[in-house]
Formats: sequence, structure tokens, C-alpha cells
Amino acid sequence: MRCVGHIVRIRSGNVNRRAAGWPGRCSRGILARMNDYLPAPDRYGRTPYRRCGRSGVQLPAISLGLWHNFGSVDVHDTCRAIARTAFDNGVIHFDLANNYGPEPGSAETTFGRILREDLGRYRDELVVSTKAGYGMWPGPYGDHGSRKYLVASCDQSLRRLGLDYVDIFYHHRPDPDTDLEESMLALDHIVRSGRALYVGISNYNAADTRRATAILRELKTPFVIHQFCYNLLNRNPERDGLPQTLLDLGLGGICFSPLAQGLLTARYLSGDIPADSRAGRGGFLKPSAITPELLTRLRALDAHAKERGQTLAQMSLAWLLSRPGVTSALVGASRPAQLLDSLGALSNADFTADELTLLDRLSGVCP
Ligand SMILES: NC(=O)c1ccc[n+]([C@@H]2O[C@H](COP(=O)([O-])OP(=O)(O)OC[C@H]3O[C@@H](n4cnc5c(N)ncnc54)[C@H](OP(=O)(O)O)[C@@H]3O)[C@@H](O)[C@H]2O)c1
Repeated sequence: MRCVGHIVRIRSGNVNRRAAGWPGRCSRGILARMNDYLPAPDRYGRTPYRRCGRSGVQLPAISLGLWHNFGSVDVHDTCRAIARTAFDNGVIHFDLANNYGPEPGSAETTFGRILREDLGRYRDELVVSTKAGYGMWPGPYGDHGSRKYLVASCDQSLRRLGLDYVDIFYHHRPDPDTDLEESMLALDHIVRSGRALYVGISNYNAADTRRATAILRELKTPFVIHQFCYNLLNRNPERDGLPQTLLDLGLGGICFSPLAQGLLTARYLSGDIPADSRAGRGGFLKPSAITPELLTRLRALDAHAKERGQTLAQMSLAWLLSRPGVTSALVGASRPAQLLDSLGALSNADFTADELTLLDRLSGVCP
């Protein structure tokens, strides 16, 4: 844990290549040699930052999630290259959860190694988030929303990440059996004990978001953000009124699976399922989801993206970022080129009313 902190101290205000090679001693007495990675000096001119409500938290318009592609089964050099590409382009927000892998927990371990190798010296520039709420270890205290689970899981995450604190700690999903007050008090405790700077919730509907906000505001907990699934193929948040609720409450909104796990890209347009794709590898995206009807809609969306001079991924992200209540689009990537493609979305973010009507129709929102 302190190893990373030590690197930050000896690197502070000093980014020259010679210093980058100096060894540092971490708290366990192991010599840690820093490599020669130097991030792009113009990285802060490449990605706009958007504020979560009126809080001090500003996130890149596109953030990087480590749900897939950063597990112990993945090639470390590729993980490292994706993370470096992100930081070089101003993508300073890295999103994790206790259970990301596979195996569960290994994405945090991988990112902890990337921090030690490359990014830890820039800790004060990074926004690192993690979560707890899904099953992580056996027994009644390895899942859901009890105070015991959330605090213990946060400690485990910090150990795997090698960090003293995370920037944002989320309750990953609502727990119908635990009093909301207990889960929210646990989030408050996690901040007050120094384990996190801010808290968020994820997968809560609009009504529960209002209830959670009321509790956390009373506690004066720095609750700043909601993480939810929203994309051109999933307009449910609009039906629930969640984006407007976030605006009303002054909360940030970060949208996960903005590319519908790769469906809103060129990945599956031919009708084939590439062996190295998420659907091909047997991940959360099932080949059975890629129906002929869906392919017809995706191809129509792709044709419109081409008219705009964008890839399907870029148009999908640009659309999402134009929606009210959306602070950041939280993408995944299995290689650096995908992230670079996604970042290209930011160069054409305007839609005419006719385009929005067309996209609504292709989204299935209107006939
Ligand atoms: N809070 C929650 O409950 C929750 C749930 C899910 C996700 N999340 C967060 O959201 C993050 C993103 O989720 P996601 O990975 O599903 O996001 P996504 O951006 O919708 O999908 C990412 C996948 O799409 C493909 N892809 C991405 N960019 C591409 C491009 N430009 N061209 C072609 N293919 C491209 C890649 O798949 P291939 O592997 O096929 O190359 C990539 O792994 C997660 O890492 C996590 O941090 C949160």
C-alpha cells in the first residue's frame, strides 16, 4: 500500500526520465524500480471533463471500466497498454468492483500492478472507483448491502489495489432485505474512516435514488454519482425518469455498457461472432442475444453513423453524451485501438432533431 504512496512522494513535481528510473523502497522493504513510462504531456487537452452536479468531482467524458479484459486470465501487457492509452488521452477515471475478473478480485489486482508499474506516481490525478454489492465470498456477509460486507469488501479492494483510499466507493446494487439506512450509513462510514473520498450508488431506480439521497444528504456524506446502464439499445432509464432525477438532485450520472457490451460497434455487424469477442469468449454477452432483428437495427444505426462520418461506436457514445443527466460514458476495451476509436466520438457530438427521431425509432422508443 505504502509502496505506491512512496513512489508518489519521490515523483512529486519531478517527471524527468532519470528520476523515473530511481528505485524506491516500499513499506515491505522491497525495492521497486520505476519504469520509464512518461504520459503524454498534452493529455489534458484531449478529453473534456464534466462535473458531477455541483460537486468537486470532474470526470472525463469517456471513462474506462475494468469489468472485462483486466482479469487474471488476460494478458498483462495488453491491460497495461489499455490503461496507458487511457491516461495518455486524459481518461483519468478507472472504474472497478470487488468482483471484476475473472477470477473475482483479479481486475483490482491487475490495476494495482499497473499503479505500481506506471500510474501510481500520478495518483493525485486519478479517479479510481470500486464497488461492492454482488456476491464476492461465501456466507451471508459476502454479498448484498450489510455494513459488515461493505466495509470488509472495501478493505479487501484497497489491499488488492495497493491504495490507501479510493476516490469513489459505490453500493453496486440495491439490497431489498437490508434497511437502506444501514447500507447508506456504511457508505458514510467508509468516507469518514478515510477509505473513500466520495460515494455513489449503482443500479438503483429513480425512487430508491431519491430515498438514498435523502439519507446521505442528512448525513452530509459526499454522495456525488449514480452508475447505471444506458445506451441506444437500453432506454429503460428514461422510462424510469432516472436521468431527470439525477439532474433534479444535482448528482452525476455515469453510464455503464454504453456500447451494449460491443453490440453498438462493428464487432458483430457481419453476422459472425468473432472468437476473440465478448460473445465469442462466452462472457456476459450471449450469442443468442444477436438476433437477425437486432442485426437489422444495428446495420441501420451503422449506416447512419457512416453518414455522420463516425463509427457506430462513436455515434453511440456521442448520442449518449448528448443526453440530459449523463456526465460520463463508461466504456470497456479489449485493446487500445478500441479505446482510441471510442474517444473519437468527442469530435462530432451534435445531432439534429431529425437524427434524434431516427435514433429513437431504431432504439425502439417510437414506431
Ligand atoms: N455498475 C454495474 O452494475 C456495471 C455493470 C456492467 C459494467 N459496469 C462498468 O461499465 C464498464 C463498461 O462496461 P462494458 O465493458 O460492458 O462497456 P461497453 O463499452 O458497452 O462494451 C465494451 C466492449 O465492447 C467492445 N468494444 C469497445 N469499444 C469498441 C470499439 N471501438 N470497436 C469495437 N468493439 C469495441 C469490446 O468487446 P470485445 O471484448 O468483444 O472486443 C469491449 O470489451 C465496465 O468495465 C464496468 O466498469 C458496471
